Amino acid sequence: MDECAELFIKVFSADPWYDNWISLLQAINYLGELIENPVFEGFVACEGSNIVAVCLGHRRSWWLGNEFFVDEFFVENKKQGNGIGTKMMDYVTSNLASNGYVRVILLTNKDIPAESFYLKNGFKNNPRRTVLVKTLP
Ligand SMILES: CC(C)(COP(=O)(O)OP(=O)(O)OC[C@H]1O[C@@H](n2cnc3c(N)ncnc32)[C@H](O)[C@@H]1OP(=O)(O)O)[C@@H](O)C(=O)NCCC(=O)NCCS
Repeated sequence: MDECAELFIKVFSADPWYDNWISLLQAINYLGELIENPVFEGFVACEGSNIVAVCLGHRRSWWLGNEFFVDEFFVENKKQGNGIGTKMMDYVTSNLASNGYVRVILLTNKDIPAESFYLKNGFKNNPRRTVLVKTLP
């Protein structure tokens, strides 16, 4: 968990995200909450003893069958652009398909490299959907 959270902060503090996690503990709590979800499923790819790619998500028993919602997907900063994300996504989707899942859903930002990555990996944008956020006082 600590290694995952450290990598998570490192990746998402960098371009194009520039997230500013208030502490390592906050990230550990966040990832821990994902993992404690009873319908959590996650995948980690390692090179030797180092984690290089992570996919964390959860099952949704939707009307058309089970779908997998990707909460977090990331590759170690220096390893990005070398096909690891594609390999990871291929592994995750074939594993999910063989376990009866019918589709994979996720949110990402528009016009960033991740969007191109997902489009290249068979995802389609759903223009009918929007994300609404209300910041509380
Ligand atoms: C998005 C991400 C998971 C893709 O994994 P990856 O191993 O870098 O991607 P691959 O090497 O398999 O595929 C490369 C393609 O992905 C896209 N891409 C996305 N991010 C990239 C990056 N940082 N470097 C290079 N290509 C990137 C490009 O379209 C590229 O295609 P190209 O080689 O034809 O230009 C990874 O770059 C990453 O972790 N980025 C930061 C975190 C993030 O954005 N996660 C997704 C949040 S929803």
